[in-house]
Amino acid sequence: MKITKICCIGAGYVGGPTMAVIAQKCPEIQVTVVDLNEERIAAWNDTDTANIPIYEPGLDVIVAEARGRNLFFSTNVDKAIDEAQIIFISVNTPTKTYGKGKGMAADLKYIELCARQIARVAKDNKIVVEKSTLPVRTAEAIKSILDNTGNGVQFQILSNPEFLAEGTAVTDLLHPDRILIGGDPSEEGKKAIQALVDVYSNWVPAAKILTTNVWSSELSKLTANAFLAQRISSINAMSELCEKTGADVNEVAKAIGMDSRIGSKFLKASVGFGGSCFQKDILNLVYIAKSYGLNAVADYWEQVIIMNDHQKRRFSNSIVQTLYNTVSDKKITFLGWAFKKDTNDTRESAAIYVADDLINEHAKIAVYDPKVSNKKILGDLNYLETRNAEANANSVRSFLDPYEACQQAHAIAILTEWDEFIHYDWQKIYDSMQKPAFIFDGRNLLNGPELKAIGFVYQAIGS
Ligand code: UDX
Ligand code: ADP
Repeated sequence: MKITKICCIGAGYVGGPTMAVIAQKCPEIQVTVVDLNEERIAAWNDTDTANIPIYEPGLDVIVAEARGRNLFFSTNVDKAIDEAQIIFISVNTPTKTYGKGKGMAADLKYIELCARQIARVAKDNKIVVEKSTLPVRTAEAIKSILDNTGNGVQFQILSNPEFLAEGTAVTDLLHPDRILIGGDPSEEGKKAIQALVDVYSNWVPAAKILTTNVWSSELSKLTANAFLAQRISSINAMSELCEKTGADVNEVAKAIGMDSRIGSKFLKASVGFGGSCFQKDILNLVYIAKSYGLNAVADYWEQVIIMNDHQKRRFSNSIVQTLYNTVSDKKITFLGWAFKKDTNDTRESAAIYVADDLINEHAKIAVYDPKVSNKKILGDLNYLETRNAEANANSVRSFLDPYEACQQAHAIAILTEWDEFIHYDWQKIYDSMQKPAFIFDGRNLLNGPELKAIGFVYQAIGS
């Protein structure tokens, strides 16, 4: 089967970059990314690619190259579904906020709506690809909807989880560690798998393209994220022990990371992991394990989240304690709000929870993040529903200039590891702050000895 038309439903952090790279690498395939969100699609179509809705290093250049040639962004979902041979589903699957599985299970309503729309529109055979992270056996549910509500056409469902990390999405897509494609073992299933393999073969070496059954593929994605998050919770657990024992977590991480069986990546102690995937995927895993009665398995993985929540809370507690047990009406400046550097995504960012704790203590939070807007910051806090929107707006203010954000602050908290923070004029910042001037480095980013020499009281994680 020669693929000439692809559609992707969902123009978010996964769909946008992934389709841009497919379009760049496969100029003979027409790639249409559709979304219900008109504002988002308009931003993807902005003549100035600096204004595309997702900040990812290098993405603007790829969009500029492919857009209008074989990459299109549109709100006409039906048309794109109708024309495509392969339809990627890349919509959001947030944790349920209501009903059974509330706070744990993935909310599959957007996925189901997509499946029903595809079934209604499709007039010829389609390959439907799950790109969003999904609970195991979602493919089965999609298939059931498609087969029972469709127009009698054949659907093949593939699981093709995305392993890109935000902030490095373009590099991850161009040079993936592996591409995973799960499908049905039937002849028709194999043909569908091969069609998708052929798309990726345009730039990914064959040895890196792995094919499995659908369930292994779905579960591998959850497992990969659970293992990665577990490493962070493990090193964060050690960071607390380091603080008590006089060990330095950076030294411990380096020492264990040189063991080739352990490896050096994902051992950076921090204020806690964030992002749209880790927590959601582990909660999914826990929910699935519980639903099969596997309580020991569920408890084991849940501990990764418990440790992460503890680390965020420990950070805000330490700020309050160090500032003489009160932050009431004190200006605390957050450098960084995004969940990691080089992205404008803030979903589940540790900054949100630390700010929420400090606002409960009546602190005044000032925020500077190079890529996150005030609207998003307030939206994140309002989403927690800890207090009303007016109270949040009165407690948090964001700045376009980091030096202004730090003026007259009692303390600075580093919440995101943006490179630019390293190169600030820290003497100038020190001179403008209340004394003693505190820095709480939630990312172990800054040069502690240098800051102490200036006069700061500097606290890092795990030392
Ligand atoms: C993750 C997975 O890495 C990716 O493969 C999957 O497709 C989606 O989920 P992402 O959430 O975008 O990607 O970013 P990642 O780099 O994994 O970071 C997640 C969080 O962990 C961030 O808050 C980051 O700051 C934190 N982190 C990461 C640490 O605290 N320490 C580390 O050593 C690494
Ligand atoms: P992710 O990080 O998984 O890419 P995002 O929230 O960034 O998640 O993007 C998901 C996108 O999917 C959103 O822009 C949302 O508007 C879109 N979406 C959700 N449901 C549908 C649907 N039924 N049809 C089209 N787009 C949808």
